[in-house]
Amino acid sequence: MTNLGPASASGPAPGPPHRRGILLRSAGVRFALVYAAVFGISAFLLAVALWYSTLGLLQHQVQNAIHNDTQALMEHEQLGGLPSLEAAIRSRVTNASDPDGIYLLLSATGEILTGNLDHWPAGLTQDNVWYEVPVARQGVNSVALLKVQPLPGGLKLLVGRDVRARLELRNVLRAGLIWALSLMIALGLLGALLIRSLFRRTIRDISLTTSAIARGDIARRVPVSGVGDEFDELALTINEMLDRIARLMDGVRQVSNAIAHDLRTPVTRARSRLEDAALHASTKEEMQAAIDRATQDLDGIVSVFEALLRISEIEAGSRRAAIAPIDLAPVLEDMDELYRAVAEEKQIVLNTEIAAPLPVLADRDLIQQAVVNLLDNALKFSESLTVVNFSASLVDGVVQIVVADRGPGIAEKDRARATERFFRAEAARNTVGSGLGLALVMAVAQLHNGTLRLQDNHPGLRAVISIPTYNKR
Ligand SMILES: Nc1ncnc2c1ncn2[C@@H]1O[C@H](COP(=O)(O)OP(=O)(O)O)[C@@H](O)[C@H]1O
Ligand SMILES: [Mg+2]
Repeated sequence: MTNLGPASASGPAPGPPHRRGILLRSAGVRFALVYAAVFGISAFLLAVALWYSTLGLLQHQVQNAIHNDTQALMEHEQLGGLPSLEAAIRSRVTNASDPDGIYLLLSATGEILTGNLDHWPAGLTQDNVWYEVPVARQGVNSVALLKVQPLPGGLKLLVGRDVRARLELRNVLRAGLIWALSLMIALGLLGALLIRSLFRRTIRDISLTTSAIARGDIARRVPVSGVGDEFDELALTINEMLDRIARLMDGVRQVSNAIAHDLRTPVTRARSRLEDAALHASTKEEMQAAIDRATQDLDGIVSVFEALLRISEIEAGSRRAAIAPIDLAPVLEDMDELYRAVAEEKQIVLNTEIAAPLPVLADRDLIQQAVVNLLDNALKFSESLTVVNFSASLVDGVVQIVVADRGPGIAEKDRARATERFFRAEAARNTVGSGLGLALVMAVAQLHNGTLRLQDNHPGLRAVISIPTYNKR
């Protein structure tokens, strides 16, 4: 099933773009709106907190004072009866111990016995309930917080405080808060606009770059502001990805050039051999010889293609399945045995030193092939009567396989390129080979999370494959 299979097609399909407002389709606008909402809500909560921590507190204090005052007056009534209560009220009114204090004592028949209100305020019907109503005190209109306390014998005691001052404070505070809130809304919108343009600018950099690349300007990169923020991180990641793609494309281009270049020679040669034979061969044997040599040329080409495919396969990681825990020591011992004879033939001394055990997670065949390539090179480029050192050991949790010869080595400037496909140094042009050996060694090392290092052996080449060791735990 492909990615566009029925499962994704039957899911809740997102509405067509035109259904949503044209503005909401912009991610920048959405971010800005969220910002403005968060900003506005916090400003509103702040205002509410401010309101209740000032006016709410004041209201609470006034209510407490009225309550305590009422209790004190009731005590007078209980201890000394009505006369004592009346005296207490009169004393509070005349002494004006609290100039905002409001008192009114009503008889059962409804006439005013004492107090400092001109008449019973309208609307006060229930006992023990808080009222905030307009009152008239000695002809002056004001606002009071009041509570009615019923007394035995049908009397009613009204106790309260003039709260006009608090109302004024409330108006001032309300005006102030409205101003502050309007200012905050303006600031919130400004901030939202800022965020939107910031967002747009950053995204635009990225989309400009990517569309330039889509048009073929592969060298373009997303500008990095250097602030080190998330957008920078994104830009860096995108640039890294672009670099990698560019490197891969370079590799592909180089390999296809090399294939065309390197294979044209043997193909042309095979062709002219056959043509030559067709025109000039006079005997059946001559014809047969020409065909045989052409077949050899073609076989060489086929083996180059096979090697190329093998390297790609290894690089793609499709050989991972064959990786298993093994001991490399016996594998390398076998190689030593195999190459001892080849070395002897060339009068080269193969000096082998293999430690045991060498536990690794590895594909046996691939490691073998890689080591064969290194030994092949060492023997190919060595003069007779020289020594080739072949060693393997475990150093700091890493298995190191070293093949070191005393041949011409690889010049410093060529060392990095020696592992590229088809690379052959100038000096190697008249030796047999196609320049794929080290590329395969490199691919094998990387498949095993390892490395291939090419070093100067003073003189000669010292090639080191390092693979992390494996312990069963
Ligand atoms: N042991 C070595 N000594 C000197 N040069 C080497 C050695 N191994 C590799 N090279 C250089 O690196 C090139 C690439 O090696 P390789 O990929 O094995 O290709 P090939 O062996 O087919 O030439 C060689 O052509 C040669 O120039
Ligand atoms: Mg080689």
